[in-house]
Amino acid sequence: MQETIAAINESVNYIQQQSNGFKPEVGIVLGSGLGGFVNEMTIQYAIPYSQIPNFPVSTVKGHDGKLFFGTLGAKNIVAMSGRFHYYEGYSMFQVAFPIRVMKYLGIQKLLISNAAGGLNPKQQIGDLMIIKDHISLLPINPLIGSNIDELGARFPDMSEPYAVNLFQQAMKIAEQNNFRCALGTYVGVTGPCFETPAEYKYMHIIGGDAVGMSTVPEVIAARHMQLPVFAISVITDLGVTDIPVKITHDEVIAAAKSAESKMSIIFKTMILEG
Ligand code: HPA
Repeated sequence: MQETIAAINESVNYIQQQSNGFKPEVGIVLGSGLGGFVNEMTIQYAIPYSQIPNFPVSTVKGHDGKLFFGTLGAKNIVAMSGRFHYYEGYSMFQVAFPIRVMKYLGIQKLLISNAAGGLNPKQQIGDLMIIKDHISLLPINPLIGSNIDELGARFPDMSEPYAVNLFQQAMKIAEQNNFRCALGTYVGVTGPCFETPAEYKYMHIIGGDAVGMSTVPEVIAARHMQLPVFAISVITDLGVTDIPVKITHDEVIAAAKSAESKMSIIFKTMILEG
């Protein structure tokens, strides 16, 4: 639909004015407690979401809601510090919108991070999990509605949601750094409740290794545009025992923070290696 393309172009034009036409090659989405990656970049511009036309405003603790532009080695990067979740009340269109804007700014790949609950008994809090596939338990898909042909196909292929070359590269980097890191399947839910013990069990039985409240709509929007995607979870809590464990958002943020440097090393090495 023309209004969507016009809205994307309006956001892109504003951002390009504010950043002197900066052309990012890699787009990054930083999850809860994982915003510190921007310290690895040589930052040139930081634009609050609230100033960008058509951007929603992030309301969650641990998300500061800015688009950072800068470099890492020779690569131009745009990083979203803070993302939009369906549970905040945004529409799926709003959740997906910044991904579309980053694509129109010129990114050629998208790296995503998130905090997630572990479903696999082999996991420990603070582990990394590289996402090789996902299961959407969301009640809605960001592509519902008239298809925007300029963005992608009506029925997009999802046979390789996460780029195999990128997750293989990341697994090697994790191994070289001796990080506890698995390759697994992410289950996408709306939240905002954490799961019941029976739900965690169910999600593992259907093939999930981690569960979280983000990422899936972003990946769908990116793959609609045929943008290669890499995504990684930090396991911040465990839903794997039969003993119910209470979880708070603050614990999730603290666990993510403790694993942030490992995740940053993986992103940084992937970008520098190209
Ligand atoms: N469930 C859903 N989302 C999450 C969790 C969880 O256990 N941990 C962090 N995000």
